[in-house]
Amino acid sequence: MKDTLEILAAYYDDEYGLKSDDIDFYLRHAVNVDRLLEIGIGTGRIAIPLAQQGVTVYGIDSSIPMLRRLLEKCSRQAPLSVHCCCADMRTVCLNMTFPLIMMPFRVFLHNLSQSDQIQTLKRLYQHLEDDGILLFDVVVPLYPLLSGSVWQDEFSETRAEGNEKVTIQTKINHDPVKQHFYIQNDYKVGNENQTITGNYSYRYVFRYEMEALLKLCGFCVEQIYGGFDARPYDYHSGLMVFKARKVSQGSGDATATSPIREP
Ligand SMILES: C[S@@+](CC[C@H](N)C(=O)[O-])C[C@H]1O[C@@H](n2cnc3c(N)ncnc32)[C@H](O)[C@@H]1O
Repeated sequence: MKDTLEILAAYYDDEYGLKSDDIDFYLRHAVNVDRLLEIGIGTGRIAIPLAQQGVTVYGIDSSIPMLRRLLEKCSRQAPLSVHCCCADMRTVCLNMTFPLIMMPFRVFLHNLSQSDQIQTLKRLYQHLEDDGILLFDVVVPLYPLLSGSVWQDEFSETRAEGNEKVTIQTKINHDPVKQHFYIQNDYKVGNENQTITGNYSYRYVFRYEMEALLKLCGFCVEQIYGGFDARPYDYHSGLMVFKARKVSQGSGDATATSPIREP
């Protein structure tokens, strides 16, 4: 019997391997630095294309099955400068600093309480060089997701996992008090009647909540984009991409230095 982490890792590339709308955005920032840290590196969906362009990527992830897949994929290619280890973003301690830290694809939402969110941002602050950049994207909690306590999505695709067709049904339960989405993926492989289930949770964040968290933890919010084409933030885009800069201690108040003004 596989545990949830094994199940999510087994199907991750089938489910998201073709997602590529964010790669160029992260690459544009990565080519300006000699190395970067990716939090929640997963199976390398972003890290591998970056490393193929000559970027040195350090990555952490709390899931050993995801890291195992990343290493398998790297071993099938020409040597890539990808260095990874198993660590939790709330407690990570690498004894290194970076000019750029990225958390692509909702990784920050895995912090399920405010204390986890703050702990993570403080850890990332410690791992950034002075004036270093933190870049990440999260979903906007859109009205349709929030209006009901149960939300259901269903889709079916033919995947590259062997020759089998994998059907994934996603159910999302919503707890408005905790600001949690509970996501349940039910995977049906081929014609088997058996369903394999993988669960995970997100704590969603609102725009001004995220800004306040960043400022509280010593970051100056430089940009909030509404898409990977760097369009301005717009609630209806469903996406918030934050670019924040580390304000070094002693150089002033992050709130005062933020170029973002409320409309
Ligand atoms: C949606 S996947 C994103 C993977 C990759 N960044 C991408 O864009 O494809 C989220 C990743 O965050 C990892 N993760 C979840 N909680 C974490 C934590 N507390 N510390 C480090 N990684 C975590 C998961 O194991 C998973 O690999």
